[in-house]
Amino acid sequence: MAIPITEARANVEELNFDGPVLIIGGPYSNLEATEAVLTAGAALGIPPERTICTGDTVAYCADPAATVAAIRAAGVRVVMGNVEQALGTNAEECGCDFPADSTAKADARRWYAFAGAEIDADARRWMAALPGAIRFTLGRRRLVAVHGAPSRINRALFASSPAAEVTAEIAASGRDGVITGHCGLPFTRVIDGRLWVSAGAAGMPANDGTPRTWFALLTPDADGIVVEHRALGYDHQRAAAKMRARGLPEGYARALETGLWPNPDTLPAVEKAGGGIALAPEAVAWGNQAALSG
Ligand SMILES: [Fe+2]
Repeated sequence: MAIPITEARANVEELNFDGPVLIIGGPYSNLEATEAVLTAGAALGIPPERTICTGDTVAYCADPAATVAAIRAAGVRVVMGNVEQALGTNAEECGCDFPADSTAKADARRWYAFAGAEIDADARRWMAALPGAIRFTLGRRRLVAVHGAPSRINRALFASSPAAEVTAEIAASGRDGVITGHCGLPFTRVIDGRLWVSAGAAGMPANDGTPRTWFALLTPDADGIVVEHRALGYDHQRAAAKMRARGLPEGYARALETGLWPNPDTLPAVEKAGGGIALAPEAVAWGNQAALSG
């Protein structure tokens, strides 16, 4: 049964940030990776008020309840992902939009059932109350953080996706730029002066053959915003061992160790071909945009 994908609900207030913003992609029930990214944010001096998780706190890995608890305890802002939407509405499926009859879909049934047994009513209420979008201003740029895309909570757009599709999504948002998660790979695109950032995922590696976790940093400067994609090592062996001990799909446990996704067929051809090629941390200067917001 398909879960209902409801209209994303945005926060009402426009947040104004006066310093760097940390973006955490899907924690995916990976407690070790989530704690590593939260610790990195604290070491950078970024307060929880300026930290945004783009949703899917729960997915493939071994610690759904503890990961949700860690995110909630940290006090960071969280956008509703398709998994929070699914658990928050007691849906039968995770809403990840994997192809029917794919291994990813079969695996999702397993990890979603595991997570569903762990996530209690209080956590489900918290998930159901999350905003579908968080609007904020950084420097002079008006941004919005969503899970997949402004038009659909589980729409995956990639670095190789047609520019017109990305442009249309940004235009639909009414903002200067869009910050996302969901697709699981870190990248930044500037198209016609507008920004699209995918933070990647905290809880799964970037299919680049390394076990690193990723986060993004948005730093305002005199010209605009610098977007950085940063990688971290963490105790991925512990995270993988816990997945095996709890009977979760082996493909994702192995992915934590090898850095390679078990289901590359869900990726576009360009990203699939790039699997196993180590990503380098990247900084993109998005500047000279005064006309957009002035
Ligand atoms: Fe998602």
